[in-house]
Amino acid sequence: MRIIASANQKGGCGKTTTAINLSSSLSIKGKRVLLIDFDPQAHATIGLNIKPSDLEKSIYDVITPKKNGVSGIGDILIPIKDNFDLAPSSLILTAVEQELSGMEGRENRLFEAIQQLKEEYDYDYVVIDCPPSIGHLCFNALRACDEVIIPIDMSLFSLRGVAKLIEIITLLKDKVGHDVKSRALITMYDRRTRYSRVVLEKVKAEFGDNVFDTVIRYNIRLRETADCGLPVGDYDKNAIGHEDYENLAEEIVNLETVGMHQNLNTLNVAQDILQKTEEYMKSPGIEQPISEMEEPSSYPLQSNYSKMVEVIATKSADSFNNDEDN
Ligand SMILES: Nc1ncnc2c1ncn2[C@@H]1O[C@H](COP(=O)(O)OP(=O)(O)OP(=O)(O)O)[C@@H](O)[C@H]1O
Ligand SMILES: [Mg+2]
Repeated sequence: MRIIASANQKGGCGKTTTAINLSSSLSIKGKRVLLIDFDPQAHATIGLNIKPSDLEKSIYDVITPKKNGVSGIGDILIPIKDNFDLAPSSLILTAVEQELSGMEGRENRLFEAIQQLKEEYDYDYVVIDCPPSIGHLCFNALRACDEVIIPIDMSLFSLRGVAKLIEIITLLKDKVGHDVKSRALITMYDRRTRYSRVVLEKVKAEFGDNVFDTVIRYNIRLRETADCGLPVGDYDKNAIGHEDYENLAEEIVNLETVGMHQNLNTLNVAQDILQKTEEYMKSPGIEQPISEMEEPSSYPLQSNYSKMVEVIATKSADSFNNDEDN
């Protein structure tokens, strides 16, 4: 079981899009996948067409010390499609930040829940979608995972998030002896803009070999799919977003876990990026952008996924043809 977190403190850089579409692409390859939505915003849950406010139990009930009659992740699973299950989230997960405060073993809550899951379920991959903040939730996710994907959209804000993240990863390695393998993933890349190319080169220079070869291009379909509650490939098989996440899944499957970290001097990279981005953040007129996703008004409780796929499959191809960007 490979446990992979999608994390970056920066909001809106593609963590959830990556978590959903990577999970889907891995499942299409026949890998058994569990996606854990570990963000109180519940965007991964919503993005798979589940309405968080209708859930009786969620990942909160697994993590909270209150237990709430839930004995583990197995009790909250929602099947999405073949080989793909979701452990959903809801807004109440925010309470965990307070509840775990000062509690012994607070950093191990998710780690222990996944260890327990391993005894009963044979997932090949567990993908964790992290919130855009550094707190107990993010720390738990990093503690629980073996690998972390750091989505970096084409902005220097993303690098600011990376600096904090790498500080925690370094801390985990030094203090807990937990060596998380981290790789940057370029998202929302638009090769037509010079700025995108500049940021891409900068990320490659900072991360060396620890950048995925796969680059996720800007693709409007990835936005539309979040609104429809589907992974991109089940919405439009010809979308470049689907092609990119298929390539990412292939790269991850082929990636030898051993040696992933070989050229990354984590501490130096962290300090270097931190210094550069803090300098940048002091420049006048810099504001943190806010995630654009809002929860739409109504969802069914259970995923009506297969029905939606059917409807979309029978939809006229013409409806897609007016858009230049496939
Ligand atoms: N490659 C892409 N091309 C175009 N739009 C994208 C792409 N990746 C993500 N998006 C869109 O950008 C927005 C932010 O993406 P996403 O929700 O995945 O980011 P996030 O890092 O999970 O955000 P948050 O920090 O709020 O959790 C969404 O509207 C999503 O549909
Ligand atoms: Mg998200």
